[in-house]
Amino acid sequence: MSSQVSSHKSTGGGTAAPQGFQVDQRMGFLPPQMPLSRLPIAWEAWEATLDAATSQRFKAAEQLVALDSPQKLVEEEKALAWRKLVDKMPLLSIDNIKGCERGLRRAHLILTFMVQFYAHTTPPTESITIPRSLTVPLLGVSCELNHAPFVTYSDHNLHNWSLKDPHGQDTIPMRDNIQSQLTLTGTPDEAGMYLVGLRMELKGAEALELLGLSAHEIEAGNNIEVGRITTYLTQTTKVIEELKGILMTTKELVRPDIFFNDIRPWLVGADADKWNRKWVWEGEDEVEDSEQMLTKVSSPTAGQSPLIPTLDAYLGIEEDDSKRSFLDRVRVYMDHQHEEYLQSLRLRKKIIRSFVQVIAEERGTNAPVVVAYNATVQAMKSLRDAHLVIVTLYIIIPSRKMAKASEMGAKLSSLLDGLYSETSMPEV
Ligand code: HEM
Repeated sequence: MSSQVSSHKSTGGGTAAPQGFQVDQRMGFLPPQMPLSRLPIAWEAWEATLDAATSQRFKAAEQLVALDSPQKLVEEEKALAWRKLVDKMPLLSIDNIKGCERGLRRAHLILTFMVQFYAHTTPPTESITIPRSLTVPLLGVSCELNHAPFVTYSDHNLHNWSLKDPHGQDTIPMRDNIQSQLTLTGTPDEAGMYLVGLRMELKGAEALELLGLSAHEIEAGNNIEVGRITTYLTQTTKVIEELKGILMTTKELVRPDIFFNDIRPWLVGADADKWNRKWVWEGEDEVEDSEQMLTKVSSPTAGQSPLIPTLDAYLGIEEDDSKRSFLDRVRVYMDHQHEEYLQSLRLRKKIIRSFVQVIAEERGTNAPVVVAYNATVQAMKSLRDAHLVIVTLYIIIPSRKMAKASEMGAKLSSLLDGLYSETSMPEV
């Protein structure tokens, strides 16, 4: 049997080069250059105010509900003093960071972290008003980046890493040398949670590369080496299996009760306030398009990572309505270049899958490339099953344990039922 296919009908257009969308061959969706760990001195007021928050290990208002009065009062006063500091913080201009992507990303990260500290330490009996000293620069920076003006996966994962040993690049594997820079809670669990994401992004870069090569070869259309595509797919399966292994290390690195009770409350979005308060953004009218921008204020989730949807898109994995609506909801929180990359792949209409289908029709489903493709699809399914285990351990079980949490538990269960039960991943 010939290992070459001479002319595969391409679905039109060519696979856009990932590099044009800030997708790096080695780092995937992580920026190839280490994110800034501090802004220049002109913005020291922001950095120092954030330091003052992280060093004090505040408790979120949701956590204080369970504390007795004296302890609660101490915590509330501590946080109030910090919020007063933020109220008095000067309104710093962002003019001199414009055009500097790393500076803007760092600014976005620290401003959004301060917004979370500010909002979630505000007692439930008070309204939440994010002061002008945060609102105005945050909207400005978000506008420059074309990014949601809220903390996102892009902030706490993609643009929040450093090397443990900056000189160890040639000797220490990146996955063992990478760590997150900032956490909201100072817990090893939160750092561990971000580490899982970082390691998955790094490993995922290998799958993006393999699938990109496959799609490129198929689209080029002449004398396609079916054996090579088979090898790429087999290697991709291995990478996806390793992604699953990394995801499952969450169980070693993150304690479910710490995640649910200590970390999660800080990551709640402005549209999900536990006490149904509407967040007010002081000074929003001073920034153009602020109303439109401030519609993107949902809780961050690793579901905002472009990695898994990009693998789906390359493999032509079907989207049902609930998956599509989830993706439409989260893609506005992705770095816009990544989102454009993902969209360009989704529009390419299943290059790899269509190619494999043609081979299946011509040579049967036992053809090695068909077997390899189906194994890759199965590996994606198995990765999603593992994710469901994580969701159950970290959200469903703790939310059911929590007094009065039945409503939230039920909401999440139905959301997840929608996301997972109808997931169609048909083999060829
Ligand atoms: C403690 C760890 C994690 C928890 C508790 C968790 C929780 C969740 C929840 C509740 C959802 C449902 C949708 C929503 O956010 O509203 C979701 C979706 C999703 N999460 Fe996670 N997640 C975790 C880690 C990860 C990691 C590390 C990744 C990979 C980078 C990931 C990728 C996804 C994806 C792609 C979706 C969309 C559903 C799908 O396409 O299957 N999650 N996650």
